[in-house]
Amino acid sequence: MRRVTLVSLYQHPIVQKYVKRSGMAHAIDVAERSVKIASQTNVNPDHAAKAGFLHDIGHYQWYQDGKWDFKQYRENDIHAIKGAERAHKLLIRQGENHKDAKAIALAILLHTDSYLPDGSLCLTPLQKIVAQADTEVEEAGGAHHYREISDQIALERLRKLDANIDYLLGKLQRAE
Ligand SMILES: [Fe+2]
Repeated sequence: MRRVTLVSLYQHPIVQKYVKRSGMAHAIDVAERSVKIASQTNVNPDHAAKAGFLHDIGHYQWYQDGKWDFKQYRENDIHAIKGAERAHKLLIRQGENHKDAKAIALAILLHTDSYLPDGSLCLTPLQKIVAQADTEVEEAGGAHHYREISDQIALERLRKLDANIDYLLGKLQRAE
């Protein structure tokens, strides 16, 4: 049994506030896509789902005169750093063990390199998954952040994904 499920994360006020700000539909898309890639690459699907779901939880909205200011965002954004810290605190408070919370937080920290100095990093398969899933569901002009989803549909998709993660974890355990 997983101590922290996607549904329990969804119901937390911090997720409601910050994940809705950057787009709940997008977060669920990335979580689903991350699990799909994880299942094909033998990566822990629970870590992939949580990192995918929470990857943009650190977003701040860079607006100038009611319009998205890409220049300000590009120069000042640290959403991956903020998100990694916020997600880590939330996961620990919900009862996630420290090892899992760290793996998930690191995948969030490294899901984008837009804020990092030039250079190359050697990423783990889990860290690559969230970056890949995020890129795959990206829409022109950042439209993926603005897609609407009802609470009912969001919960249905997360319940389904939780069940799928349980199934995949069982399969991984049996293969060990
Ligand atoms: Fe994203």
